[in-house]
Parts: sequence; structure tokens; C-alpha cells
Amino acid sequence: MKVTDNLKMFTGRANPDLAQKISEYLGIRLGAAKLTRFPDSELLVKIEEDVRGRDVFLIQPTCAPVHENLMELLIFIDCARRASAERITVVMPYFGYARQDRKDEGRVPISAKLVANMIATAGADRVLTIDLHAGQIQGFFDIPLDNMYAEPVLGVYFDQLKLQNLVLVSPDVGSVKRARAYIQRLGGEGFAIIDKFRVNASQAEIRQMIGDVKDKTVLMIDDVITTAGTVCAAAQLCKTEGAEKIYVAATHGVLCGPAVERIRNSPITELVVTDTIPVSQEKADAIGKLKVLSVAELIGEAIHRIHNDQSVSSLFLNGQRPTAARGAPNSGDE
Ligand code: R5P
Repeated sequence: MKVTDNLKMFTGRANPDLAQKISEYLGIRLGAAKLTRFPDSELLVKIEEDVRGRDVFLIQPTCAPVHENLMELLIFIDCARRASAERITVVMPYFGYARQDRKDEGRVPISAKLVANMIATAGADRVLTIDLHAGQIQGFFDIPLDNMYAEPVLGVYFDQLKLQNLVLVSPDVGSVKRARAYIQRLGGEGFAIIDKFRVNASQAEIRQMIGDVKDKTVLMIDDVITTAGTVCAAAQLCKTEGAEKIYVAATHGVLCGPAVERIRNSPITELVVTDTIPVSQEKADAIGKLKVLSVAELIGEAIHRIHNDQSVSSLFLNGQRPTAARGAPNSGDE
């Protein structure tokens, strides 16, 4: 691994375990920084080593507690900028505030654009993310953004399971392109799409399915599981339609509110997420059928390539998955 002393990597408090794994992959140590609070709870970040002229990477998904983690990231960027870092790459494996990416009714904000502005204004030079909720968020940044896909991690896992009678299922129209990337790797006997209608932030109504899952093993693909309303309702429909086993793969396991209970009581056989967001052992135990795969090597490889001015997209253009970077994800939401 060719990583020079010029590369410095720091982590906020959002996902230190992932940052540690990335640093181990790169064979470097995490940079020293002290995060403290003023008496009134304001945050203070102090980078405790020289970053002048360095290629700095800051690891911080903006998962819950969202405002704490976002503010910490912004202050961290400002800190590195004022310490004369040559280049600052913000590594946000999970980009929070991605849901509100357009004005779908009057008098609402476009929060994803606001967050993009804040990150760039704070002093970031580039951004690295995984499975942005909506691909168009890339255009909210006027700095380079590399949006990677967790498919190579999740897809390899399911490839190894050698599932028979496999049907890929997209739980809404937003995940159709995403599911296509898995079909390229896994093949399977068919594809089904579910017609989802979002009632409110925590409730999804599943109306009908286009496709056949009778006596099949289902693999459902989504980018994020928040309250698990979408995948649990979709899994129930698959069960009613005669599916034998139901696997679910999602990049980001937000898993908040009623998610634990919903998944535990659902017909889902196994739910597989990645560690873009930390999942506590307690939560994993409560769900009981959860597997968490690490994206540390994927991110580590991307950092290595960015640092050495090499292509990141070619990570997704290998022999196993020839058109993934084009055919993969991310055109929005429901
Ligand atoms: C929707 O477009 C997304 O891909 C997810 O399906 C959705 O955000 C998940 O939310 P929940 O788990 O609360 O249904």
C-alpha cells in the first residue's frame, strides 16, 4: 500500500470503529485530535499534530446524533483549513439530511443543498460518500464528490451464499437501478418491483408487486433502512405472494424508532447492512437476524486512490461487475 507521510487521517466521534478499520487497511495511524466542550455545550476541536501542507482525510458520517455529528464535522474542517492543510477530503460514508433533496411541495427547504453548502463553505476540497440517497445530490456540491457503491461488499456476501431460485426485489421505484447492479453480479431468475406509497415519515403503504416471487428466494435491495417501514411491509407482501425466504440488503442501517421491533417481527430471514453507520451490539442482538459487513476496505482503497491521484470509479469497473458505475444506483426516492 503506497501511502506517504503526507496523508493524515482523522476521525470525529460518529464512527470511530470504522475509522480505525480504515486506518488499519491503509497501514497508518489515526491522527490525534481532541474534541471537548465549552461549559455551555459548544464543541471545540483541536488537531494535535502538524497538518500544514498535508493531504487530510476526515472520517465522519452524519448519522445520529445528526446535528452533533454535522457540527463536529464542520468545526473539524474549519480547524484543518486554518491549520493550513493542503487538501481536505471529507469522508461521509453516510450523508445525512439527504432526504429533503427537492421542493416537493410549497414552503419547504432543500436541506441536502444547505448541508452541501455548509461543508464546502467550511473549507472542504472534496467529498467521498457511499450510496447517496439520491444521485443528484452530487450536483449540490461545486467541489469534486466521489459517490461509491456498497454493492461490491454486499454483492460478494450474497454471491457466497449461492442462493437458489433467486428473485431480486426493489421495494420502491427509487431502488430499481440499485437492484440492477446486484442482478449483474448475482443473476437470478427474475426481478420484481413494489409499488410503494409513503404515508408519512415512518409509514409506507405497499400497494402491489410487479413480478413473481412464488416459491422463490427473495433478495430485496434498498439504500437505507430508517424505521424499516418500507422493507418490512415489502417483505410481508413477498411472504403473502409465496416467497420462501426473504433476504434484505441495505447500505445504511439507520434503524431508528420502531425499526428493531418491526424487523424482529417481520418475515425477513436475514437483514444485511454495512458499517457506514455504527450499529450497537445491543441493537443487533435485539433484531436477532442482522449481519453487519464492513466497508472499511472499500473506503480505504478509495482514500489510497484519491491520495495517489488514481481513479476511484475504476473500483467499480472490474471484471466481475463491468458496468456497475454506470448501471448502479441512485435516482431518487419515494
Ligand atoms: C426510500 O426512498 C428509501 O430508499 C428507503 O426505502 C426509505 O428511506 C427507508 O425508510 P423506512 O425504513 O423508514 O421505510
